Amino acid sequence: MEEKDSHPISFLVTDDNSHTLFSERFRASYHSTRGAISESKYVFIQNGLQYVHEQFQSKEISILEVGFGTGLNAFMTYLYAQEQDLKINYQSIEAYPVPITEASRLNYTSQFSEQEKIVFNQLHQQEWNRVGQISDSFSLNKHLCLLEEFSSQQKFDIIYFDAFSPSEQPELWTEAIFEKMYDLLKRNGVLVTYCAQGQMKRNMKQAGFKVKSLPGALGKREMTRGLK
Ligand SMILES: C[S@@+](CC[C@H](N)C(=O)[O-])C[C@H]1O[C@@H](n2cnc3c(N)ncnc32)[C@H](O)[C@@H]1O
Repeated sequence: MEEKDSHPISFLVTDDNSHTLFSERFRASYHSTRGAISESKYVFIQNGLQYVHEQFQSKEISILEVGFGTGLNAFMTYLYAQEQDLKINYQSIEAYPVPITEASRLNYTSQFSEQEKIVFNQLHQQEWNRVGQISDSFSLNKHLCLLEEFSSQQKFDIIYFDAFSPSEQPELWTEAIFEKMYDLLKRNGVLVTYCAQGQMKRNMKQAGFKVKSLPGALGKREMTRGLK
């Protein structure tokens, strides 16, 4: 797959002043318009990474993300891992990359040091389909492919399931896709998503997950965590 498949996007400022993008192809924003950074921290870091770190006392954690997009979840993961002294193997799947020229205009690093700005740029500049070291303790492999075509021999501790919503991309929230996600997790592995749709939760259960509904981000009623 080649990078030319990227699609028209525009910038939005969300309620916590962090940017998100709006995809013309999917007619959807990449994050909650109530706060992109706040949503990423709450759904994926607090209820995904921090949960696994504290629950299983893990210091080495492997993460698979569905949808690299703006790189925000990867950047928030890097920051949490630095703070907690974790070793992270981060892999992300993306079919329609955000061009680097656009990514470099995102304001996610405005509160951070020069070193952290360099890290955010590195996350985007890293070559596709190659393992690279962002730091001694953070490795990154971005897979340029459709989720439907992704396969891996590796198993993961956490999946950040961050596709566009079931109304925009119903083909990514099916029982078959969740079976594939289940297979990609280690025993006791965890999948987190901002989504709380009933049919999605039934599909997760059918695929074998123990499904837990948690309070959602930024006033949203619920989000979902699945345990293998
Ligand atoms: C809701 S956005 C979230 C992206 C990212 N996690 C972020 O924080 O910016 C969903 C992402 O999934 C990507 N995507 C959509 N369909 C896909 C597919 N079939 N396979 C892989 N990635 C896909 C989109 O291009 C987009 O980057």
